[in-house]
Amino acid sequence: MTAPILVVCENADELANRAADFIVESARQSIAERGCFSLALSGGSTPEKTYTLLAEPAHSAAIDWAKVFVFFADERFVAGDDPRSNFGLAQRTLLARVPLPSAQVFAIPVYGESAAQCAAQYAEILARWFATPGESVPPRLDLILLGLGEDGHAASLFPGAAALAVGDAWVTWSPPGRLPPPVDRITLTYPVLNAARRVAFLVAGANKAATLQEVVEQHASREQRPAAGVQPADGTLTWFVDRDAVQSLRLRR
Ligand code: 6PG
Repeated sequence: MTAPILVVCENADELANRAADFIVESARQSIAERGCFSLALSGGSTPEKTYTLLAEPAHSAAIDWAKVFVFFADERFVAGDDPRSNFGLAQRTLLARVPLPSAQVFAIPVYGESAAQCAAQYAEILARWFATPGESVPPRLDLILLGLGEDGHAASLFPGAAALAVGDAWVTWSPPGRLPPPVDRITLTYPVLNAARRVAFLVAGANKAATLQEVVEQHASREQRPAAGVQPADGTLTWFVDRDAVQSLRLRR
């Protein structure tokens, strides 16, 4: 992995703007190089601002949506119209507001008997779309957007969870971590996160400062701070952070 890039923004609004610019540029490059752009979205309040801004004409008009394919980094095991759904959040703030064909949105299934069953279904969806033979070569998404939980989780990989050790499946499930909402999750695994061409974390707020410092500067263990295990092997890692989140870092840029 190349050295992580830290983009320090004045506040959450600037962060959303810079992150939206980054998505536009990633789409442009991916489409120029490979003819399409695969993007995985997360839930959470920080990405929400970015999605809203990305749907505004200033950003949205610069993307060739006919060539965009949207996936999800994680999902809560709730119905798609539940206010806690990550798909629902993305749909309201972004997907329903841009000219993206609905057949190009690959939500994580949530109507199986269990989160484990839904995880297996999503792995099949990824396998079909990325046409990778077997499960040994993980799909290579062009861009995965992640948030950072106060406890250090990324996607739905929670501290101490069994999901952290999953190396032989692309998607797995997890019981809830200690942060709300208390529902089971379905999440991409490290092999998929770390196969991406680009991963970008979006982190805002003073409540994230100590955790961000542990992950970025102290290289915390991934068991304690799962975000520390996100290290794309042959891709870039960019942290979009605001001043509040970065206040504990020794090396501020
Ligand atoms: C989820 C998310 C999760 C989120 C972080 C950060 O389903 O909860 O995908 O990984 O991105 O918890 O969320 P905030 O930006 O709201 O702190």
